[in-house]
Amino acid sequence: MVSLPRAVQLLEKTWTISPLMQKIYSSPYRFIVKREAGLAGIRAGDRILSLGCGAIPFTAIFLQKITGCPVSALDIDLPALQKAGELLKKAGLKQIRLIEGNGAFIDLSDYSVIVTALQAEPKGEIIDNFFSNAQVGARLVMRVPRKTFSTNYDPVPQKYKPEKEVRQAMITFGKSVLFRKAV
Ligand SMILES: C[S@@+](CC[C@H](N)C(=O)[O-])C[C@H]1O[C@@H](n2cnc3c(N)ncnc32)[C@H](O)[C@@H]1O
Repeated sequence: MVSLPRAVQLLEKTWTISPLMQKIYSSPYRFIVKREAGLAGIRAGDRILSLGCGAIPFTAIFLQKITGCPVSALDIDLPALQKAGELLKKAGLKQIRLIEGNGAFIDLSDYSVIVTALQAEPKGEIIDNFFSNAQVGARLVMRVPRKTFSTNYDPVPQKYKPEKEVRQAMITFGKSVLFRKAV
């Protein structure tokens, strides 16, 4: 059977052909991303990475629209990135830079804020990469799957203690948490 993250990944690729589906699917995330921008205290001068952007990179799009900051969008899946590129071009959103790579290993030193997709994994290794390689003062936002979905999505390992969190009213995740790289 296809896993839930994989099903979402496939659906995103299918829905890139329908602006209506994109809108219905993406709309709730405007509020999610707004709360995450507040949680991370995003301000002018921040450089943002959306980690796990998929074929419909709504987190990156809302981050750019809400904050006005430069946003890069990363995915490990090249076909998804190609579709994201077409979608951004059609929407005239050329300012979002697309990058292929694995968030658990790529160089994060260019970014002051990283916002991860619920489906991003392995979360423990992404957090380790953040604490090892991000710049001092950088913030990492992670969506935490609800208990009901803990077998569907990689959980945030308990050994990592977030600095803050905000509640989110999504079926699959109930909060976003913040990690900060200290001096
Ligand atoms: C289905 S998408 C959903 C994201 C959504 N479109 C958004 O804007 O937040 C989640 C994506 O995360 C990607 N992904 C998962 N783990 C990753 C990792 N370690 N590094 C980069 N991309 C990753 C998957 O390939 C998938 O395309």
